Order: sequence, then structure tokens, then C-alpha cells
Amino acid sequence: MKRRNFIKKGCAACAGLAGLSFLLESCGSSLPIFKTTPEKKLLFIPEDKFTADNHHLLVRSKELENDILLIKNKNDYTALNMKCTHEGFALTVTDKQIVCPAHGSTFDFSGHVTKEPALRPLTTFTTEIKNNTIIIHLP
Ligand code: FES
Repeated sequence: MKRRNFIKKGCAACAGLAGLSFLLESCGSSLPIFKTTPEKKLLFIPEDKFTADNHHLLVRSKELENDILLIKNKNDYTALNMKCTHEGFALTVTDKQIVCPAHGSTFDFSGHVTKEPALRPLTTFTTEIKNNTIIIHLP
């Protein structure tokens, strides 16, 4: 009997952990985060922070109000300000889109609105590549 109860409780705990892990994945982004500090309104991100499987990176800095979603394209990079253009809430990223948890606006990975109430696309920052480093130009 004791062994049976132990197995039952063990299975219940495993099921609970599996459910918790699902919730954690659905609550927020599991994207890698690169923390940095701007130098003269420039952010420097080594290209090797991206891998063959990973084309998205969150760039975070204490000096920035919001994260920047840096997206690796075929020949360049897109840097999106993760601030909703509706009322300015911080955005989250899923596998398929960028989502505003405040009122449900969604954006594609080019920053275009795919669901209102937001009407304007996300702010993008100019990027360039020098010596295997991605440089983001802040306004
Ligand atoms: S602040 Fe993002 S939808 Fe309203």
C-alpha cells in the first residue's frame, strides 16, 4: 500500500510540474536575453549570440525603457522596440507573434499591427553589422 501511494503521489507531482512548465512557457518569453549598456547611443551585440536555431534575442539595458527584440533575417537584423504603440505597455513575444498583454494588440516580426487596438507599427531602430557585431542605433 505504501509503495502504491508513493507512486500515485509521484505521478501527481510530475503532472503538476508538467502543467507548471506549460504555464511558464505561455506566460512569457523564453527568448535569450542579452544585457548591455549603450555607448554613445549605440548598442553592441556579438553576432554569435544567435545560433542556427535561435533567430530572436531580447536586448535589455537599464538605460532603456523597454527591451529591444533583435531579429536575425537572411542578410540583416531588425530591431523592434518592445513598447506597444497603443498605450505604451511592454510587449511579450511568442513563437508566432508579438503580443500586448494590456489590450490584446498583436504585431508580426516586422512590427506591423496584426490585431488592433494598436494602429501604428512598432518603432524600429537602425542596425548595422561591423566585425561580427550588430550595432543598434538608438534615437
Ligand atoms: S497598450 Fe497595447 S493594446 Fe493597449
